[in-house]
Amino acid sequence: MEQTAVITGLGACLPPLVVGNEDLARSGLDTSDEWIVARTGIERRRRVTPGTATSDLGVAAARAALASAAVSEVDLVLLATTTPDRLCPASAPRVATRLGLAGVPAFDLAAVCSGFVYGLVVARALIRAEAYARVLLIGADTYSSIVDPLDRNTAVIFGDGAGAVVLERGPMDAAGAILDADLGSDGGGHDLITLVEGGSRYPARLGGTARQHRYLHMKGTDVFRYAVRQMTASTQAVLARAGWRADSVEAFVGHQANQRILNAVADRVGIAPQSRIGNLREVGNTAAASIPLAMAEAPGVRPGGRTVLTAFGGGVTWGSVGLTWPAAMPVHSEPAPPPDPQDERLP
Ligand code: UT7
Repeated sequence: MEQTAVITGLGACLPPLVVGNEDLARSGLDTSDEWIVARTGIERRRRVTPGTATSDLGVAAARAALASAAVSEVDLVLLATTTPDRLCPASAPRVATRLGLAGVPAFDLAAVCSGFVYGLVVARALIRAEAYARVLLIGADTYSSIVDPLDRNTAVIFGDGAGAVVLERGPMDAAGAILDADLGSDGGGHDLITLVEGGSRYPARLGGTARQHRYLHMKGTDVFRYAVRQMTASTQAVLARAGWRADSVEAFVGHQANQRILNAVADRVGIAPQSRIGNLREVGNTAAASIPLAMAEAPGVRPGGRTVLTAFGGGVTWGSVGLTWPAAMPVHSEPAPPPDPQDERLP
């Protein structure tokens, strides 16, 4: 039988600090619990405390995924993130070494909120090409490090977290098999979700940019409309490729950005209400971590059940994957302490 990448392990890590909607309103942000719940569906989110970075969440989620798969070694480590510990180098080699995997190829993949879905497609291609037999894919982000606490457009939505999966070569009929995919991008939308300062166009050392350029900036309503349109089209493309009717999907996991977006996409596609999986209310939008975190917290989906994942993010990027629900039992973990706090201070 044709071989593909099969999800054999699933891990998750959320930082312990819970920030409720009321906490945000009390912190001086001009918002309210009522507005946030009505317009986004989010009630609380998790945030790291100072000293905890993306790799600390990623290492913990990765250890959990390795435990879930009952393996300790992989051939490749992929870290989907847009909030690496440092702009240079990538965080993946550090994560791999902290996992006891020094020597294994490791790189970051930056597709913003579509990063995990992009990572699944890259991992599947490399596994099918027999370049690597077992891949660890982590989606980890710490958006609290780039969100303006005074910007109510973004501060109410984003949270921190990490999720990870182990992918291994296996048959198309295995539970957890990646079957079909659709990816896309449109750089015409690069201003819709952006952090301007600190890149090569406006190096951080020059400073002097407006506040909105020093933090993540999002044109929320434009993103909302684009996300609904594109996640709907991308989900439909994957369903057509798989030959699945929308009402046969047992688990539909959309990028957890806004409940109104998720409802609009699922309604348009025709996904049954009981098949809509998500944890947005509890964790907010955790960017590249959002889909694996939602999968790790999904209650009782049947292993082998038809599953569609769909995402949309900065770039803009989008992607969907058709798979069957994995048999792996998810494992949850606390953030890993930095290996040596001295080492993480400014030199
Ligand atoms: O992860 C990558 C993808 N990201 C997304 O998918 C996010 C997509 N966008 C969104 O989720 C929504 O656009 C937001 C949640 C960011 C904003 O919701 P919206 O329904 O698009 O609100 P809006 O920006 O159209 O604003 C409606 C009203 C405005 O007031 P007026 O002009 O009607 O008086 C805003 O000033 O709500 C006001 N408003 C707020 N009020 C209280 C906007 N944000 C807030 C807030 N609290 N946080």
